[in-house]
Amino acid sequence: MILSAESLKQIDVELAKYPADQRRSAVMSALRIAQTEKGCLKPETIEYVAEYIGIAPVAAYEVATFYNMYDLKPVGKYKLTVCTNLPCALRGGVAAADYLKQRLGIGFGETTSDGKFTLVEGECMGACGDAPVMLLNNHKMCSFMTEEAIEAKLAELN
Ligand code: FES
Repeated sequence: MILSAESLKQIDVELAKYPADQRRSAVMSALRIAQTEKGCLKPETIEYVAEYIGIAPVAAYEVATFYNMYDLKPVGKYKLTVCTNLPCALRGGVAAADYLKQRLGIGFGETTSDGKFTLVEGECMGACGDAPVMLLNNHKMCSFMTEEAIEAKLAELN
């Protein structure tokens, strides 16, 4: 069994939210649960989730490879996703990303050698009013990421 009984129980809760013939609707939640347990979504995990839900593996791959909140390879302890879409870009999003690249010594899609930080380029997170924004570990939104705010956040994460 690739996933723990606890994860499967959580997936069952998600599956129960949909009609029996719409189990595929739970795929996003199921992948999130699997990623939380495994750290990333390797092919065998994606295929296991697909089989558990009862959908074709390709349907689960389509979801896992489309959204950048799913990690197909291991990431650092802290995954920093910086939005560079237009509203954020106009308010310093690209500069924030460049600052992080220089500060951490890595580019997008890379992880620091100590395994601490992974930097990811993100799409609009629906928080344009707080631009530039950065998402921490897929869940915590960090707003108004000026260089000072970035430094404060990095200090918090040390
Ligand atoms: S463009 Fe960055 S949150 Fe919308």
